[in-house]
Amino acid sequence: MAKDKIVLAYSGGLDTSVAVPWLIENYDADIITVTIDLGMVDLESIKARAIEVGAAKAITIDAKDTLVQEFLFPALQAGAIYEDIYPLATALGRPLIARCLAEVAVSEGAYAIAHGCTGKGNDQVRIEVGIAAVEPGIQVIAPIRDWGMSRDDELDYAQERNLPINASKSRFSVDENLWGRSAEAGELEDPWLEPPEEAYEWTQPVTNTPDDPIYIEIHFNKGLPTAINGESMDGVGLINYLNNLAGTHGVGRIDHVENRLVGIKSREIYESPAAIVLHAAHKSLENLTLSKDQARTKSKISQEYADIVYNGLWFTAHRQDLDAYVKSTQRYVTGDVKVRLHKGTCTVVGRKAPDALYQHQLATYDRSDEFDHSSAEGFISIYGLPVKTQNQIQKL
Ligand code: ARG
Repeated sequence: MAKDKIVLAYSGGLDTSVAVPWLIENYDADIITVTIDLGMVDLESIKARAIEVGAAKAITIDAKDTLVQEFLFPALQAGAIYEDIYPLATALGRPLIARCLAEVAVSEGAYAIAHGCTGKGNDQVRIEVGIAAVEPGIQVIAPIRDWGMSRDDELDYAQERNLPINASKSRFSVDENLWGRSAEAGELEDPWLEPPEEAYEWTQPVTNTPDDPIYIEIHFNKGLPTAINGESMDGVGLINYLNNLAGTHGVGRIDHVENRLVGIKSREIYESPAAIVLHAAHKSLENLTLSKDQARTKSKISQEYADIVYNGLWFTAHRQDLDAYVKSTQRYVTGDVKVRLHKGTCTVVGRKAPDALYQHQLATYDRSDEFDHSSAEGFISIYGLPVKTQNQIQKL
């Protein structure tokens, strides 16, 4: 009789490598690992390790382009930044991972999906809610949450079974994709302690950055970045380019104590050079092209959108509705933004758009002024009428 199959989300690290024999022993199933490249993954070496630790089959998926087109760019257009600071890299990757896992489970005929999330984080929620949305019938197994092994227990377990594990203990718990890198745990758990330089990998300390600023021009078409300095780039290429360039100038470091969905506060170190540059540039182009009312409503939508992403509610009609609103706001968000990167700062220094609502002849104080000054008098008298009336009568 053919064995049952379990699909395991496999990163190649200690947790998920130990999970392979653990699942085989506890569930008597064939393990099919799935490794998904969202930007920073060496698929071939991870695939080889999966087989070495006992997987019956190792599947790899390059989902970089899908991540950008279906998740990162909509979030950019929405202005989605959690708690005004976190561009949501990990949170945006999880629903895509969940979808890929569910699709593989169906195509391979697996009855369950296993993942390596712990019981304390947001990611277990995002992955499991995502799986339930895409493939409601499937069972979920969370070995790391259930088995109660410490890191040393895991190492012992691996040694007893001769697993080829690279036991060099990293100081932090790290997750990364094209939109950013996050580091937590270890000494970072002391929110008073300045993060050691080793917590950062994508960005230079300002003491190491070039003395001269660099200027770049980013072109947006309907709210999506399409070119830098006149050179067209696809989404993945453009984000990689900006991560490198802005990271070299020390841009993108974030030190945040954040409110997790599961109720705890945690101290997180993020590096998101491209996301920070693109959000700043995109916002400045919106300032030029959206009306005051649009901009005010959109900023509320941005917050709601960020909460939806952070809280694992990607596969909802609510998110789709907000996407429809956001898309409509982007009709005229086309133009160019000039950004200066220097010593850890990213500053928008210029913007232009064919459909800009900024009109020089209305804004100017020089002779070309076309604003009707005389009508200001009548405007003020009507505008101030209720204030004047109330003060006169009620003596505020
Ligand atoms: N706190 C972030 C989030 O919930 C990042 C979590 C990433 N995981 C990690 N092991 N660093 O989106």
